[in-house]
Amino acid sequence: MAKEEIKIKPFWYSDIWLFPKLITVITTLDKDGNVNAAPYSHIMQYDVMAKTPRMMVGFRQESHTFTNIVETGEFVINCPPADYLDDMMETARFWPEGVNELDHTRFTPIPSLHVKPPSLAECPQIAECTVHEIIRLPKSSGIIIANIEAIVMEEGLKDMDRGERIQKMDLPVGLGDQNRRYYYHAKTTSDVTMHELEEPPGGQKGGKVKMDIPWEAAAQKGLMAVPTTMRQMVCTSVEDFAKNKGDTEVTAKRFIQMSEEYGIDSELMERFRTGTD
Ligand SMILES: Cc1cc2nc3c(=O)[nH]c(=O)nc-3n(C[C@H](O)[C@H](O)[C@H](O)COP(=O)(O)O)c2cc1C
Repeated sequence: MAKEEIKIKPFWYSDIWLFPKLITVITTLDKDGNVNAAPYSHIMQYDVMAKTPRMMVGFRQESHTFTNIVETGEFVINCPPADYLDDMMETARFWPEGVNELDHTRFTPIPSLHVKPPSLAECPQIAECTVHEIIRLPKSSGIIIANIEAIVMEEGLKDMDRGERIQKMDLPVGLGDQNRRYYYHAKTTSDVTMHELEEPPGGQKGGKVKMDIPWEAAAQKGLMAVPTTMRQMVCTSVEDFAKNKGDTEVTAKRFIQMSEEYGIDSELMERFRTGTD
């Protein structure tokens, strides 16, 4: 396929480069306790471990949301279903300070569990957050690294497998804007494909890891259940841990002991034991 180089102009990321994104409505309180709500998509998971789960969120530094978070230290990330795209857009309008955008939508504010800003009842997936770190990027947005105080989901969702949950939640995908005015969204859940990540031909279900000391068979089994992208890192950490304890071989007992000391929770350990990625 023939290619052409594209001239990079201001707002290239919204006008030309497509990157499908999460759609959320972030709720905050200003310092006087007034509710503010606005859509945000610049969100990425940051710390995957259970002890310090974090998200990274990017804001225009002049936005009410950023100001409120800096002043109060708290916010809620609400993921609305596709049926609420118009309401989500309504919260994006440049209302004057102090206007509660939710009054112009069908969203219902409900108390959050661990923070003061409200959550939105219609959203099946919600993260209650507090500030861990604020980074003001020169000539750019403010990045907030947030502690996740709670992940709250509509009852029943957590027990569904991902395919079923995707259909039920019906979350839209943001496809960016044009001219800072026309926002594109995809309703994805009617056309979802699932692809299995297969092992390479001849590959052990473990991929290659370089081991420095011998591993007991049961410990090896546990290691093979660690997702391949993390396996070498986990292997080296467990070996260092075992060596520090004076061991010359990695045993399953040591592996589990390290995981517990590092705050790897029992559910993740169960995945290691049963080999489900
Ligand atoms: C779908 C969508 C996603 C958006 N994502 C972001 C974002 O990630 N960061 C940002 O600074 N603004 C984003 N915006 C723009 C803000 O929502 C907009 O500037 C809003 O008026 C800010 O409101 P506030 O001043 O009450 O915070 C987005 C807008 C839409 C419609």
